[in-house]
Amino acid sequence: MGDGPLVGRHVLLGVSGGIAAYKAAELARELIRAGATVQAILTQGAASFVGPATFEGLTGRRAHVGVFEDPHRILHVRLAREADVAVFAPATANLLAKFASGIADDLVTSTYTCLTCPVIAAPAMHTEMWEHPATRANVARLASWGVRIIGPEVGQLAGGDEGPGRLSDPGEILAAAAQTLVTPEPDGSLLAGLRLVVTAGGTREPIDPVRYIGNRSSGKMGYALAAEAQRRGATVDLISGPSHLEPPPGVSVSHVETALQMRDAVVALADKADVVIKAAAVADFRPVDYHEQKLKKDTAALASVILTPNPDILAELGARPHDALLVGFAAETDLEEERGREKLHRKGLDLIVINRVDMADSGFNVDTNRALLLTMDGRRREVPLTTKAELASVICDEVEALIRMRAP
Ligand code: CTP
Repeated sequence: MGDGPLVGRHVLLGVSGGIAAYKAAELARELIRAGATVQAILTQGAASFVGPATFEGLTGRRAHVGVFEDPHRILHVRLAREADVAVFAPATANLLAKFASGIADDLVTSTYTCLTCPVIAAPAMHTEMWEHPATRANVARLASWGVRIIGPEVGQLAGGDEGPGRLSDPGEILAAAAQTLVTPEPDGSLLAGLRLVVTAGGTREPIDPVRYIGNRSSGKMGYALAAEAQRRGATVDLISGPSHLEPPPGVSVSHVETALQMRDAVVALADKADVVIKAAAVADFRPVDYHEQKLKKDTAALASVILTPNPDILAELGARPHDALLVGFAAETDLEEERGREKLHRKGLDLIVINRVDMADSGFNVDTNRALLLTMDGRRREVPLTTKAELASVICDEVEALIRMRAP
């Protein structure tokens, strides 16, 4: 047994009725190995897949299924009060739906509604169920209440189908449970006292004094990140493309317009930074020529503007020797994991945030976002629809986790 955050802590393990219930037994064993006390509770459905005796054998405690198994001590209330962290794995579509609407019609759901500790849910179900709007809405709702959703992973499902829906590995679920129990650093956050460079907004690549090539980025995500890092005690340099947003108080802001100006500003600050977060939407190309005078609309130079590639600032930072943690963004019209992972490696990043930019409630110029976070060490975290402020907080948590891992 190690000396990790789970030692001596009480983990409530809620298991619902899916084929992945057998993996919950492995999770129970891993949690016990990590030094935790594990209290398993099962839905009737779960008990049809894996019997309570399996969990009792692994945990050394009675695994409960019914609400009235200990009527003298109001079982669900007691179980909830004992827990330092609650993990629901697998969490079926039905369980998530009940959690999201406050239904408490069995032991697992009644206990959930009594919990005040951190809660983790690891969904597992068929892809169609995971992608159903009801499930998406339920997951978003639970996430907005602070429930940490781990997975599901893409892979082979029961019946031979393939797609998102597979329960995350027990090791990953355990790591998430452990993370919720890490005692905060004495100064509150691992970012306290560190130097962060955050880029935000889009760039504008001028054609003449009036016209430019730009994009829809508003800067909201980058400004939310700068605000969150500053709140955690970091010294933040925000490098912003044109934006209407008020800079967060206490953050030092450099305003730039073009990709080349952004590169100069980033390079000037990156060497002194502990973390560089590149949330800016940098134009990939700029016009070769800038015309000092406004072009008349019938000018040939306006009919076909010749473009040249801009340097990829992030890839440049990743390619040269650096100590700073590098966090990049990928604006995608789907959350394609393979492409994101390829970008993570190609640009030499520690963390990539893949965010959806093609939906009315996610992406440019709205206050909410949905994202998939991938780290260099192979971790993944899907963040369902949430506010950009909350996503900024999740990103800062992941940066802190990377800093913790780097620590000697
Ligand atoms: N980025 C950058 N410099 C550029 C372009 C992008 O630093 N000239 C950074 C962005 O700030 C972001 C990340 O790179 O953090 C991802 O940019 P994106 O445009 O999604 O990636 P590309 O590699 O350009 O891929 P794609 O061809 O899919 O657009």
